[in-house]
Amino acid sequence: MSDISSEYKGKATMEKITSLAKRRGFVFQSSEIYGGQRGAWDYGPLGIELKNRIAASWWKEMTQLNDDIVGLDASILMHPRVWEASGHVENFTDPLVDCKKCKSRFRDDMIPEENLKEKKCPDCGGELTDPRNFNLMFKTHIGPAEDTASVVYLRPETAQGIYVNYKNIIQSNRMKIPFGIAQIGKAFRNEIVTKNFIFRTCEFEQMEMQYFVKPGEDEKWFDKWRERRWAYYERLGVKIDHLRWHQHPIDKRAHYAKDAYDIEYLFPMGWSELEGVHNRSDYDLGRHTEYSGKDMQYIDQDDNNARYIPYIIETSAGLTRNVLMILCDAYDEEQVDDELRTVLRFHPTLAPITVAVLPLMKKDGLAELANDIRQELKDDFSTDYDQAGAIGRRYRRQDEAGTPFCVTVDYESKDDHSVTLRFRDSMEQVRVKRTELAERLRKEIKEYKRIK
Ligand code: GAP
Repeated sequence: MSDISSEYKGKATMEKITSLAKRRGFVFQSSEIYGGQRGAWDYGPLGIELKNRIAASWWKEMTQLNDDIVGLDASILMHPRVWEASGHVENFTDPLVDCKKCKSRFRDDMIPEENLKEKKCPDCGGELTDPRNFNLMFKTHIGPAEDTASVVYLRPETAQGIYVNYKNIIQSNRMKIPFGIAQIGKAFRNEIVTKNFIFRTCEFEQMEMQYFVKPGEDEKWFDKWRERRWAYYERLGVKIDHLRWHQHPIDKRAHYAKDAYDIEYLFPMGWSELEGVHNRSDYDLGRHTEYSGKDMQYIDQDDNNARYIPYIIETSAGLTRNVLMILCDAYDEEQVDDELRTVLRFHPTLAPITVAVLPLMKKDGLAELANDIRQELKDDFSTDYDQAGAIGRRYRRQDEAGTPFCVTVDYESKDDHSVTLRFRDSMEQVRVKRTELAERLRKEIKEYKRIK
């Protein structure tokens, strides 16, 4: 947890993020009262709002704004042959070494070269075993018998649910190439190393889009989708100097990839993968043709009924990893008077609470008035109401939750029907008429530009 990259200039550390996440109800350790479950986390009231908003923003970007992309929600349990066809049974492995003395287990690419050569445990100096391939898929059984015939896997990626439905979607929705299918859902991997909070977990969520194209046009679409995914993060206001591309060298590419790039983010522990954009060629549909015996060819009516197996361009982002990225990216601390202000500078479309309504005092009808104003805003915005403690304290609590706007109701509000609108990032305050408040908030959200 104390690993901080020397390149990292942000204010977040994994320790601060983990502690804030717990304190404010973003993310809790799974099964904490039993000592916690490694690789699993629970999303609290603010965390589920943030995760849902990130998912909604991705869904809008991929489906609503693209006429040629439709959605899907496939099941987690699939026929086991899917994973033979996809290559996961054979290839989805990590090379592992064990220490014979302290029994620690490591991925061999995660221990220093020196230790590997000398077969020496980096923790205790004990002797290491030779590397063995360990499959990352979770296995379980369907039905009452726990034999090999009843084995099913928890899906390690959502993509395969899309491939096995590609013909259904062409037929039911009359899709024509090029077109895409988008899906958000859980995926599971038996990860050996699960440090860095929610960065790498055994249960996580992916946001994947598979774009089906004519062979020969794949490289053009691959470049287009790389551009679009980069532009998406830019529009979300993610710090641009914390994003970069990394192309996978040929010998490190996944078994299905003709070409592969990651969008990496500079997390406190260093540059790490946020999203992958892959040219999966005709590998997946070719393999499903072979294993299922069903014809996966597309008949191209715009090209003299030419038949071909489409190439697939995949954009594959981690939803839960995006939650961590957005938390780290938004995290800021600044000195205000004698105090350190902790603030999450979320884009207003992602913030769990958009507007908090605060009566200056509980008495003299201010609480009732503030409550009325909150009711007016509820239909259009995610709101909070807080009347406990000094107003400065309440602003700080909202800053720490990442609430971009606070509305304060004071004595003048009773007479002039206006309120104070306070901006999280600049801490500026302006007076706004109650009747114009909702419209002003909509405008501020639409025109939001991150200033720090
Ligand atoms: N369908 C392709 C695929 O699954 P991947 O690079 O293995 O590709 C895609 O995963 C994305 O899923 C990653 O960029 C990351 O954001 C997320 N991801 C992968 N493994 C994860 C894990 N164990 N915990 C959290 N997120 C993970």
